[in-house]
Amino acid sequence: MAEVLIYETPGHAGRTVADHIAHSVDAKPQLVLGVATGSTPLPVYGALRDHVAVGIDFSQASAFALDEYVGLSPDDPRSSRAAVHREVTVPLGLSPERVHVPDGDPQHLETAGQRFEALIEAAHGVDIQLLGIGGTGHIAFNEPGSSFGSLTRVKTLTDRTRHDNARFFDALDEVPHQCITQGLGTILRARHLILMAFGPAKAQAVKAAVEGPVTSSVPASAIQLHPHVTVVLDEQAASALAYTDYYREAQSLKPVWQGL
Ligand code: F6R
Repeated sequence: MAEVLIYETPGHAGRTVADHIAHSVDAKPQLVLGVATGSTPLPVYGALRDHVAVGIDFSQASAFALDEYVGLSPDDPRSSRAAVHREVTVPLGLSPERVHVPDGDPQHLETAGQRFEALIEAAHGVDIQLLGIGGTGHIAFNEPGSSFGSLTRVKTLTDRTRHDNARFFDALDEVPHQCITQGLGTILRARHLILMAFGPAKAQAVKAAVEGPVTSSVPASAIQLHPHVTVVLDEQAASALAYTDYYREAQSLKPVWQGL
């Protein structure tokens, strides 16, 4: 069973994850961090700025994004490339040449997946992978039916995901239909997965991912196959779970030195 940590608010949860990342980069300056975009990780990135302000140094760390829309120009503010630059690279002081985002240029798609996988391999893999979860149960943009062995490739977004993400665009028809995303197989190779979810809209997807059967119909259930997963939730995202008493007891007994 994955470790589940439940916090009162996304702010508390974000600070806990940020403390863990800060500690990790202090211990290993060349940390390879897997970063998600979207709303969920923002409390983590916000809290990491406080660590940078007191001297935690990310200048030797690398970052790999999970996914990119196909067809947005790299400087489009809605692209993952722009979001990672704005939320991670600049405020945390990473070197831009060590920050990688899959290439969503329609001219380069044929080789984009392989090139991205090669970059992860050259960095000796991802140490800590941050994940959000979509209403469809996706992680990165691995929509239901994605193979557990899949690597970085082009995927078509479901209508549900396009509707959910329309809030970042002016209109639904501006949301791209395709993306290039790390596969479930890529994600499972990271050494530590931290899946975060906040708010009531995520409660059912979290329940299916954490307590349901392992099935490609719920791509996030793939985390149950990984040896080191931490699921970090607020009360609302945890509200549909069956074993919350057990998770809370384990959380209260967890020794401080263990980190996440
Ligand atoms: C983004 C990503 C997606 C999001 C998910 C949840 O890089 O990988 O899987 O994590 O769609 O999005 P938010 O956090 O905006 O609710």
